Amino acid sequence: MTAQEPTQAEAAQEPGGPRRGRRAFFGLAAAAAGAAGLAGAVAIPPYLTETPTSAPPPASPRGRFDGRVVLITGATSGIGEATAKAFAAEGAKVGFCGRRAHHGRRVEQEIREAGGIARYLQADVRDPEQLRRFVDETVGAFGRLDVAFNNAGITKSAPLHEMTLEDWTDVQHTNARGVFLAIKYEVPHMLKNGGVIICTASESRRPGGVAYSSSKQAIKGIVEAASMDYGSKGIRINAIAPGTTDTALVRPPSLPDAVWEAFKRAWGPRNASGLQRMASAEEIARSVVSLATAEFSYMAGSTVLVGGAPFGGGPMNMPPGFPAG
Ligand SMILES: NC(=O)c1ccc[n+]([C@@H]2O[C@H](COP(=O)([O-])OP(=O)(O)OC[C@H]3O[C@@H](n4cnc5c(N)ncnc54)[C@H](OP(=O)(O)O)[C@@H]3O)[C@@H](O)[C@H]2O)c1
Repeated sequence: MTAQEPTQAEAAQEPGGPRRGRRAFFGLAAAAAGAAGLAGAVAIPPYLTETPTSAPPPASPRGRFDGRVVLITGATSGIGEATAKAFAAEGAKVGFCGRRAHHGRRVEQEIREAGGIARYLQADVRDPEQLRRFVDETVGAFGRLDVAFNNAGITKSAPLHEMTLEDWTDVQHTNARGVFLAIKYEVPHMLKNGGVIICTASESRRPGGVAYSSSKQAIKGIVEAASMDYGSKGIRINAIAPGTTDTALVRPPSLPDAVWEAFKRAWGPRNASGLQRMASAEEIARSVVSLATAEFSYMAGSTVLVGGAPFGGGPMNMPPGFPAG
């Protein structure tokens, strides 16, 4: 992950954060308006008018996971949802969880309407019993476990001394402890046939990111250690660190599409992405699916950056007019 996971959405939701959230929102709106040429007084730098690179079209699914069972935490939106759909399109039976039941049922229905097999169970990865039940019921329903994608995650930001213990704990319990528990409950099933576990880490390093960055670095450590515990048992464990990806995690809530698209056009050239754009959830999903194939049979304990550029650190480079940049 590059250093650039924007946090306007979370800032708006933080305790004590609405002021910063509003500032960020209006700054973003102003910047985006400038980028779109709507604010006449703002000079538009040439890079804002360049055509960004676009994601190549996806390869057709090839049935690489026909009859396999894939379990995903946090697939009610974003990268997890796209990955559930990508595995289902490759023939997998997909069991997934998340807290928002209406989104879980929507994703389940969309996969089924596309001819895939999916099963949603509401579960919160912060709750050990709910997580254990999700894993066990998925295996019970589908009969085995071949691939697990431990992806559920949240972000909350504040300078360290302003970070509440409650927010710190919430992020650690969701991101790091949730991954520890998921692996703990998945491994006993995989000891029977082997398997692949992929966890969603991040290379995010930015001001205000103490809880998020530490939780995601913890995932790298979990993956390194666990890969050595279970490599000899036929279980490959790795992590993926997506670069900034266009999902609800980074998009401010209720932002009009046109403003968000203008922001993204401005974001790419000003940040570390050599591809000059954010990733789409679908292309991160394709990377996850690929990592789960036997093409990567000798990869264990790694965190793979799929970030459009080498990762860096420092404040977000926001478009002109963004006050928090
Ligand atoms: N977007 C990026 O730029 C980026 C970059 C690097 C890494 N990541 C990581 O990618 C992963 C997916 O995020 P996203 O970008 O796709 O954002 P997203 O759309 O917000 O997805 C987050 C997913 O995690 C689930 N989740 C959160 N807390 C949970 C809990 N306590 N129990 C169960 N599920 C929970 C959410 O479902 P519910 O809300 O329904 O529970 C949702 O399905 C996260 O781990 C994130 O840290 C994202």
